[in-house]
Amino acid sequence: MKRRISLFGYAVITLVIVYTIVKLVIPRVSMWIVHWPYPLGVPTTLAVIYMLLAMIGLAIYITMSEKNMEEFLTPIRNFLRGGQPGMKGQARLIALVLIPGLAGWIAYDRVAPKIQSPTGIRIQHPTIPGQYEKLINPYRDPKEDTVKVFIEKEGLGAMKIEEARALLVQKTMAEGRGLYQRNCRPCHGSKADGNGPMALGFRLRPANFRDPGTIPTVVEAYVFWRVKEGGRGLPRESTSWDSAMPRWKDELTDDQIWKIILAEYNTADVEPRKPEKLE
Ligand code: HEC
Repeated sequence: MKRRISLFGYAVITLVIVYTIVKLVIPRVSMWIVHWPYPLGVPTTLAVIYMLLAMIGLAIYITMSEKNMEEFLTPIRNFLRGGQPGMKGQARLIALVLIPGLAGWIAYDRVAPKIQSPTGIRIQHPTIPGQYEKLINPYRDPKEDTVKVFIEKEGLGAMKIEEARALLVQKTMAEGRGLYQRNCRPCHGSKADGNGPMALGFRLRPANFRDPGTIPTVVEAYVFWRVKEGGRGLPRESTSWDSAMPRWKDELTDDQIWKIILAEYNTADVEPRKPEKLE
């Protein structure tokens, strides 16, 4: 019986099928089984083991009889001996040049010394400058005087202090949200998750305020400093030259910045760190 594809061809097809199963089918099936949103890739070491097992299986099958062995080796021998006309002859030439070339290149790439820029350590949260340290957000928990002024201005007359305070916070929050969406959204995203439409354009990604490592670990005075002075205000150890964070002190008033900060924490659904009581 003469096969239409040679045994060598079968071996190659088998390996391709096993590879496809390991790389494409298993990740998708496991994603479906555990209801995960992404395919669950097979670790490389495991994939290598599967491929080795497939090769061992093929080797056992091929070496089981002289006939199989002969059938498997014939196309390889013919290929190496050469003398075929046309395309096949050229393919041989290309393979005989490419394979040693590739091996040489890999060996070179492994041993040649590489020049890399030194890895710097970036400090994301340097010490807050002294003049900002003691500031507090006047809008988070407005003082009674502020609330009274608000009642006066809005003509709320008989409203209770507590009610008026809640109303004031609500009003500031709405203003802050508007200012945040207008000024900060392009980079930090409408959900404050660091995924604004411009975010991908920067090497140092805009901070994701939902990440517990960003604004939740600092006091509001710190955020105020960062917004007012921007990336340029950072000290050397925080690689100010890498930061695209604008300096807002000429664009926004202090009041606007505090309102934005109130809304920023609220949009990100996190709380600021409470200032420590200093003696
Ligand atoms: C042009 C893009 C851009 C805009 C617009 C922008 N930021 Fe940023 N911001 C960044 C980048 C990039 C970083 C990260 C680098 C850094 O810390 O300076 C950052 C960092 C910050 C940080 C520091 C967070 C931390 O935990 O260290 C705060 C706070 C911040 N931004 C607030 C704001 C606010 C509020 C606005 C709007 C008034 C705003 N940003 C607008 C790009 C931007």
